[in-house]
Amino acid sequence: MDVGPPALCTSFPAMESYLIHVNGKTSPPSILDVHVSLNGGKGPSLGKGKNRKAHWAVRASEMSKRTFNPIRAIVDSMKVEPNHQKPLISLSIGDPTVFGNLPPDDEVIQAMKEALDSGQYNGYAPSVGYLSCREVVAGYYTCPEAPLEAQDVILTSGCSQAIELALAVLANPGQNILVPRPGFSLYKTLAQSLGIEVKFYNLLPEKSWEIDLKQMESLVDDKTACLIVNNPSNPCGSVFSKSHLQKILAVASRQCVPILADEIYADMVFEDCKYESLAKLSTNVPILSCGGLAKRWLVPGWRMGWILIHDRREIFGKEIRDGLLRLSQRILGPCTVVQGALSRILRQTSPEFYHNTLSFLKSNADLCYDALSTVCGLQPVRPSGAMYLMVGIQMEHFPEFENDVEFTERLIAEQSVFCLPATVSIFIRKRVMGGPGSYWSPGSCTWQRRGTRLGSTFPGPLLLSWPPPAFPLL
Ligand SMILES: Cc1ncc(COP(=O)(O)O)c(C=O)c1O
Repeated sequence: MDVGPPALCTSFPAMESYLIHVNGKTSPPSILDVHVSLNGGKGPSLGKGKNRKAHWAVRASEMSKRTFNPIRAIVDSMKVEPNHQKPLISLSIGDPTVFGNLPPDDEVIQAMKEALDSGQYNGYAPSVGYLSCREVVAGYYTCPEAPLEAQDVILTSGCSQAIELALAVLANPGQNILVPRPGFSLYKTLAQSLGIEVKFYNLLPEKSWEIDLKQMESLVDDKTACLIVNNPSNPCGSVFSKSHLQKILAVASRQCVPILADEIYADMVFEDCKYESLAKLSTNVPILSCGGLAKRWLVPGWRMGWILIHDRREIFGKEIRDGLLRLSQRILGPCTVVQGALSRILRQTSPEFYHNTLSFLKSNADLCYDALSTVCGLQPVRPSGAMYLMVGIQMEHFPEFENDVEFTERLIAEQSVFCLPATVSIFIRKRVMGGPGSYWSPGSCTWQRRGTRLGSTFPGPLLLSWPPPAFPLL
């Protein structure tokens, strides 16, 4: 029945009146029975329409079913107990804050407290971030070769959202993107859920994980929407040289493919190495550079990221800028308190903080590399930056293991050392952040597998092209 005024019907002078319907019962409605009709109750009565559902049928959407995190799938399927005689050394956690041995700079903490105490950052900001914060980020990254202004910056909820927005604005379902292998698994997770095909280009361990440019270029077709370049790399810990970056740009330029540069580890390189941003070297290739506070400032939980739009030839133009603006409106931008702290974080974090963090990472990287190099059958690739180290495994030295997952499981069971199996990103990786009471941990190792449990997700041809003995045919 329709329940009219005065009990359950309200009308507003400036608005169409509405009635609250109760499903055919005279008893007082429970909350679930109440429906609001904006057409004054003149539409078909509820429950009698042609399209009425006969049963409850609430299903997860197709998009949610296409969304798959390989790390979770692998880790969750590993059923093994650590050795209780030994303390657990977890080398599989990608969060630098977990063990408390890499605290953020005091300035960063004070900046956040100040922003909170000011009471000025409790409301909504524009969906692309406060203009003043965008100015600060632009000012931090601008350089004569790749100038940036506030309008070229979009603030996001972590670098993950920056990557999601960049992908969503550049690619339609049915198009494809080129993604590094081994690489950060999020690219595939996001692309698949957006209906975008992923094509893998190879990184070459024998060349310090440089891109196999020929193979990469061979993947480009008329449906290629963008090329993802991650430098410095997760999981390789590699840092591309200037000349290699120029060659990547040459491919993109020749093929007219824009670049999504995942530069979340920008400037996190060890002292004997130099970081160059792709945008600084690009003369014509349009680039969306994704970054954030998570790694360099060691506050991943604060979820502050950004997209820097580099488009000197106006190839992206208004089209892509407007698209990013529209997409940013889906969730109204990142946390405003962190935005309030951003200026102080970027301008006043002490140089010693950056220096100390990097020397800590480097000494752990060296320690891991040196130790692993002495193990017969293991072949670490020395990292030059970021927080990871990859290790090749010569499977003939470990005949008792069928694959990387088994190897990882045994490492847990015997030594209580928890690594990620390489199935996640094809190879062994090792984080080198140091751990509680132990110089070695946490880091993560993932071991190259020869099984085919996830063969369709990580197809084999790449492995076949890798030279034995360091990286065996599996
Ligand atoms: C290569 C790479 N890109 C992006 C991200 C996501 O960063 P955020 O935590 O800011 O979303 C990570 C996090 O581990 C990463 O390793």
